[in-house]
Amino acid sequence: MNYHLYLHTKIRAVLMGLLFVGLLAGMAACVQKSVEKMPEKAASTAVPFVIQPAKLDLGEVEEGKEAHATLFVRNTGPLTLHIADVQSPCGCTVSDLGSREVPPGGFTTLKVRIDTTAKGGAVKKKVTVTDSFGRSADAWLSLRVLENPHDAGMQGRGIFSGKCAACHVAPAKGKTDGAAIYAAVCIMCHGNQAKGAYAPKLRGLDADGIESVLIHGISRQMPAFAKEKGGPLTSKQLVEVAKWLSGLDE
Ligand code: HEC
Ligand code: HEC
Repeated sequence: MNYHLYLHTKIRAVLMGLLFVGLLAGMAACVQKSVEKMPEKAASTAVPFVIQPAKLDLGEVEEGKEAHATLFVRNTGPLTLHIADVQSPCGCTVSDLGSREVPPGGFTTLKVRIDTTAKGGAVKKKVTVTDSFGRSADAWLSLRVLENPHDAGMQGRGIFSGKCAACHVAPAKGKTDGAAIYAAVCIMCHGNQAKGAYAPKLRGLDADGIESVLIHGISRQMPAFAKEKGGPLTSKQLVEVAKWLSGLDE
């Protein structure tokens, strides 16, 4: 750390300290009045840190390329922040934390990389930071994934390969019930009750049409799910999930 930065940090720490003491004094003064009004939950759910920015648009990225973002986890509380975990629902998002310990008023960097393989169109990713008390703060990253002209079609890396298989293949294993198969490997894209999310809704479709899509695939985003095409589903599972979906009204 250079001296200027050190000084800056020092001054800020002192200022934060003063601010905190001021706050405490203020709180002590009005604690008498507000103590009955204060909802019991407020004290335990107040999160003393934030991710900045909480929303970041990464612009356009070619499919298959990585998108990068640097966020800051800022300790807005009076105690040292101990970061226990950084998570994102899709394993295609990886984060590197500068430091797990953040002093009061300080910050650490959170570098995020998003693998855009098999994605297309508008993508939104949530990143969640959790501290040692289980309190958490979120940030949202958005980007638009453009089709890669050198890598179109359905071949190559996709949602069923390598590190992606843990979440996009394995959960279907051994499932026999259509709804359970859907919840294991479809819901993350087509949403709850097949109402649509990142991918279109799957309601009001007939079973044959759905089966055909699962056997042949449509695109990189919706590849063939049949085992013999490298997908996660046996022909029996494929029939079951199609049957369940076709039973949902539009
Ligand atoms: C830890 C489990 C997990 C792993 C590993 C994983 N995914 Fe996902 N994936 C999810 C979940 C959950 C969602 C839906 C929630 C979300 O959007 O983050 C999702 C959503 C997606 C989507 C839909 C678009 C989107 O981003 O919302 C695509 C495409 C995708 N994953 C591709 C991949 C690829 C390619 C890999 C490997 C590089 C991968 N995933 C690894 C769990 C995982
Ligand atoms: C990684 C995200 C992802 C997963 C997982 C996924 N889909 Fe899709 N699916 C899509 C996208 C995106 C489309 C639209 C494809 C296009 O138009 O290129 C689509 C399209 C479809 C269609 C065609 C819809 C229509 O209106 O013609 C069907 C049927 C379908 N998916 C069924 C399923 C089933 C069943 C599963 C689970 C076994 C599943 N999908 C899992 C992303 C996904």
